[in-house]
Amino acid sequence: TGDAVEATEFPIPAGVFAETVTSVKHYTDRLFAFRMTRPASFRFRSGEFVMIGLPNAAKPVYRAYSIASPAWDEELEFFSIKVPEGPLTEHLQKIQPGDTVLMRKKPTGTLVHDALIPGKRLFLFSTGTGIAPFASVIRDPETYEKFDQVILTQTCRENAELNYGRELVENTRTDELMSEFVGDKLMFHASATREGETRGERVTTLIENGKLFSDLGIPPLDPATDRGMICGSMAMLREIEGLLQARGFEEGANNKPGTYVVERAFVD
Ligand code: A2P
Repeated sequence: TGDAVEATEFPIPAGVFAETVTSVKHYTDRLFAFRMTRPASFRFRSGEFVMIGLPNAAKPVYRAYSIASPAWDEELEFFSIKVPEGPLTEHLQKIQPGDTVLMRKKPTGTLVHDALIPGKRLFLFSTGTGIAPFASVIRDPETYEKFDQVILTQTCRENAELNYGRELVENTRTDELMSEFVGDKLMFHASATREGETRGERVTTLIENGKLFSDLGIPPLDPATDRGMICGSMAMLREIEGLLQARGFEEGANNKPGTYVVERAFVD
């Protein structure tokens, strides 16, 4: 393929993993997911991100990508937007099984259990590809050992953009390994803001008017019992943070656990 030729023109840089794509699935003209081999020595915590690039230049362009797969998975999964003329994604969206993807060796991030103090309910708020770190978190048995209820929310523009999350939740609930841990603890609230009956229903609106909680039949947010993780656009992070802080939640970090955490690595 063209990629294979490019890969031989540019040597693999020192100090990075060079992994092989095993599958690619396109959800819409803006979203796709791919899986690749996982280096035997690579360890990470659910919710962390890595820097991803392609061997198509002397100095590859790297971008932060949440690992969407859980720590027990023998492969790595990623969920990506396709940015027209995006330095990485205009090429990344064309990858095929067998192609090489570069990955820097050190994972990091704040959307991890270590940054939250213990609680009863875990809220995972996402817009668009912000669901990726939570795809890892909801497939981690530790999540269900630590929390009685796990509430995943995703807001996207279009209905079809919610399909990755729908499949993820369905597969997690029925997975042979995970179903035992998950039981009926996992809830998913998805809304498409630009079409259908959820038009206009951003998660922020649904928190403010209480519909998120009435739809799911659960009590509203309470810092005494609840913990939150947030991943999405800068505007979305700010707004959800504001809503949580107004209710008494306090931001946590790896070295100082709190009642909510935010990932700012993906914001331009
Ligand atoms: P909307 O359709 O009302 O703009 P984007 O693709 O622009 O990142 O948006 C992804 C989703 O996130 C869209 O459904 C969008 O809603 C929603 N969104 C955008 N900004 C915010 C925000 N500040 N808070 C909550 N949701 C938001």
